Amino acid sequence: MSEQRPGAARWVPETLSRRSLREAVQECRGCELYRDATQAVMGDGDRDAELMLLGEQPGDREDREGEPFVGPAGKVLDEALAEVGISPGDVYITNVVKHFRWSGTRGKQRIHQSPTRAQVAACGPWLEAELRMVRPTGVVLLGGTAGQAVYGAGFRVGEARGRLEEWPSSFAVERPPAWVLATTHPSAVLRSDDRRSAYDGLVADLRIAAEQLAT
Ligand code: URA
Ligand code: SF4
Repeated sequence: MSEQRPGAARWVPETLSRRSLREAVQECRGCELYRDATQAVMGDGDRDAELMLLGEQPGDREDREGEPFVGPAGKVLDEALAEVGISPGDVYITNVVKHFRWSGTRGKQRIHQSPTRAQVAACGPWLEAELRMVRPTGVVLLGGTAGQAVYGAGFRVGEARGRLEEWPSSFAVERPPAWVLATTHPSAVLRSDDRRSAYDGLVADLRIAAEQLAT
């Protein structure tokens, strides 16, 4: 990787805890995204959780508050999780990229831009560290960016969603999760012309994850 984008590995601490990761990520200069963000947003939740939820990157609210999924998309997600009986306390939730990428503003809100593949790759060591720490049994991929981070550039969430899959051997982890399930990103529900059916689709997919957890 280039000098401007050395990747996050050198900032990842040896001893993994929620606290050590949260502190260390604030120092990360693994890519250029730290420059325009307020702070880094590490994952949150139970470090012994069976389920890891994986989003794209913090949004405007997350960037200000320093916590993942506390904005509008998080509200949709919380509702959908509650509907299938997954308690927020039973999951670890994070993003493939830890700094907010944005460009321009609309009113007071900064406009989200999806991270590039190179930025996702640069940030990968943080996700790998979280996977080592949490060792989830199942992973739910929220949207295309999370899917591509795990399965590669060919991943299409529209085709892959709602099916239990195996963790790919191309993504080396010490203890691979037993299953992976992709679904749409909750912010896609908010953007959809037909919110109700998009939301119902998210709930239906999450129900499959909930059933796996119950077995
Ligand atoms: N969207 C994401 O992917 N992650 C967040 O934390 C918030 C919105
Ligand atoms: Fe580091 Fe990731 Fe932030 Fe880039 S986006 S500076 S790799 S934490």
